Amino acid sequence: NWSMTDFIDQQIEKIRATVGDKKVLLGLSGGVDSSVVGVLLHEAIGDQLTSIFVDHGLLRKGEADQVMASLEGKFGLNIIKVDAKARFMNKLEGVSDPEQKRKIIGNEFIQVFNDEATKLDGIDFLAQGTLYTDVIESGTSTAQTIKSHHNVGGLPKDIHFQLIEPLRTLFKDEVRDLGEKLGMPSDLVWRQPFPGPGLGIRVIGAITEDKLEIVRDSDLILREEIKNAGLEREVWQYFTVLPGFKSVGVMGDGRTYDYTVGIRAVTSIDGMTADFAQIPWDVLQKISVRIVNEVAHVNRVVYDITSKPPSTIEWE
Ligand code: XMP
Repeated sequence: NWSMTDFIDQQIEKIRATVGDKKVLLGLSGGVDSSVVGVLLHEAIGDQLTSIFVDHGLLRKGEADQVMASLEGKFGLNIIKVDAKARFMNKLEGVSDPEQKRKIIGNEFIQVFNDEATKLDGIDFLAQGTLYTDVIESGTSTAQTIKSHHNVGGLPKDIHFQLIEPLRTLFKDEVRDLGEKLGMPSDLVWRQPFPGPGLGIRVIGAITEDKLEIVRDSDLILREEIKNAGLEREVWQYFTVLPGFKSVGVMGDGRTYDYTVGIRAVTSIDGMTADFAQIPWDVLQKISVRIVNEVAHVNRVVYDITSKPPSTIEWE
């Protein structure tokens, strides 16, 4: 019978056999997947592991500081924080196609890892928190690409890391189980999923700082109100998106012509399928009122009432 404890032992043994006395770099995002990989790797190879946290400028409000506060120095992890905001924005400027955006972000992550590895010297392996879901949806010889998950599909030819992906056979709910078995705190284990491309795929079309700001501010309000309503565990994932069109509204005596914010909130087990969450109307109303009042350049809020399939969870 398949048990998580066996899985942990097998993976640790496998990691030791693969890595030997070499060094490993881990891209740590602060989410449950890469954090679990970090803890697993540290158990297996100790200080042969170096973790880096890349701030690509597409994070949620306060996220970079929160991630560092919750992980730096914990579980034996030493984390190097890299400020890569400018280089990501540079590459993304004017790019509006979702797949192209995903590929640029994924590739830039690898370039940053490569640059850091060069500085550290003697890194042979790159570890990532790739899940089975990512593998399936990124398409293989038998499946069609739904989305290019940034961490799937191998490395560019000029990059010479060997990949270590211990979670590649697991679904999200199994990773959480694993995290709990490894003794990780539940606020970390139960953190809602956040995709590698971050807010870059929640600003629909070309990304600008102004648009990122609207997504960040509205997302923070949504998170606060979901928490206030005690729905954090019930709703699997919740976030706001900026479709980018403007519509007419009225405020005071005046006409407005401003952006619409979309709210996405779903229930799910593993992210492969999902239903839109049946958030109480009064909670939605409060969120809507707060977003329009507190976030500049927004005059309309809509709620996404589609399930996956036929939609996906993220809008890009
Ligand atoms: P979709 O939008 O495909 O999302 O229904 C399913 C789950 O995966 C997350 N997601 C990603 N996670 N890299 C990731 O690590 C990615 O490129 C990526 N794209 C989507 C999404 O947030 C949801 O939880």
